[in-house]
Amino acid sequence: MAPQRILITGCNRGIGLELVRQLLEQPNPPKQIFATCRNPDSPQNQELNDLAAKNQNIVLIKLEVTDAKSLEEATTQVEKHLNGAGLNLLISNAGILQPSTLATADAEEFLKVYNTNVVGSLLLAQSFLPFLKKAAQENPEKPLGCGKSALINMSSLLGSIEKTPESFCFHPQLSYRCSKAALNMLTRCQSVDYQKDGILCTALHPGWVQTDMGGPNAAITVEESVKGIIKMLDNLSEKHSGILVDWEGNTVPW
Ligand SMILES: NC(=O)c1ccc[n+]([C@@H]2O[C@H](COP(=O)([O-])OP(=O)(O)OC[C@H]3O[C@@H](n4cnc5c(N)ncnc54)[C@H](OP(=O)(O)O)[C@@H]3O)[C@@H](O)[C@H]2O)c1
Repeated sequence: MAPQRILITGCNRGIGLELVRQLLEQPNPPKQIFATCRNPDSPQNQELNDLAAKNQNIVLIKLEVTDAKSLEEATTQVEKHLNGAGLNLLISNAGILQPSTLATADAEEFLKVYNTNVVGSLLLAQSFLPFLKKAAQENPEKPLGCGKSALINMSSLLGSIEKTPESFCFHPQLSYRCSKAALNMLTRCQSVDYQKDGILCTALHPGWVQTDMGGPNAAITVEESVKGIIKMLDNLSEKHSGILVDWEGNTVPW
């Protein structure tokens, strides 16, 4: 059931980079990993560039998810490389978090975070939908899952409305929370509409992870998180359609 063709956003660092790394190490690695980042030529992308130099199945794609022109160019490039094949797995991983409390939040910061975390995910899915549909059509006999066609939105426990009282005092992150709650709704809507096309849509909480975003005091390493995510992706099925799941496979309440 391993996906053959995968696109992941935000691959130059953090969870995105580790996903690329561990996918390459799988016993049955994908035929193509479209690893996107905003500035492929930047020296800060050294690790990703090194991986791409050593692995022919990595295709580096430049993509700023909030920019329509960048999405159009990325789509054209991916289509060329797919050469008629479909895309089995689209992971909307790129995201931002800004300090934000009820007292300090302002419109500019709120809109910036919403634009990246929600609008970026929406535009990404719109752009690559034809390739996800194609993958589902290639495998009509397969059940819903990542081996067929799936859209994963990287969400967060902080977007869970039910869980908010447990952490709001320590981690207010207001604009981020609101954006991930909206991303959860987007995922739910996508799951309802795209199920008829054979595409599984699920929101994913990767854990509190030691990355630039999660910080050094986060609960788990990026290696642990991604190991769990890959196992979880492998086990995704129809029952995970339109829900929020964590890196260990547990359902998180909305
Ligand atoms: N770390 C955690 O504890 C945690 C917990 C829950 C959920 N998550 C979610 O997991 C995902 C990955 O998080 P992370 O910890 O790996 O974060 P990270 O280390 O801060 O990396 C974020 C990635 O997103 C990219 N990005 C940001 N804005 C973008 C845009 N407009 N267009 C394209 N790429 C963009 C960044 O690219 P640049 O290098 O160019 O900025 C970077 O590659 C995020 O969606 C995050 O919300 C993380």
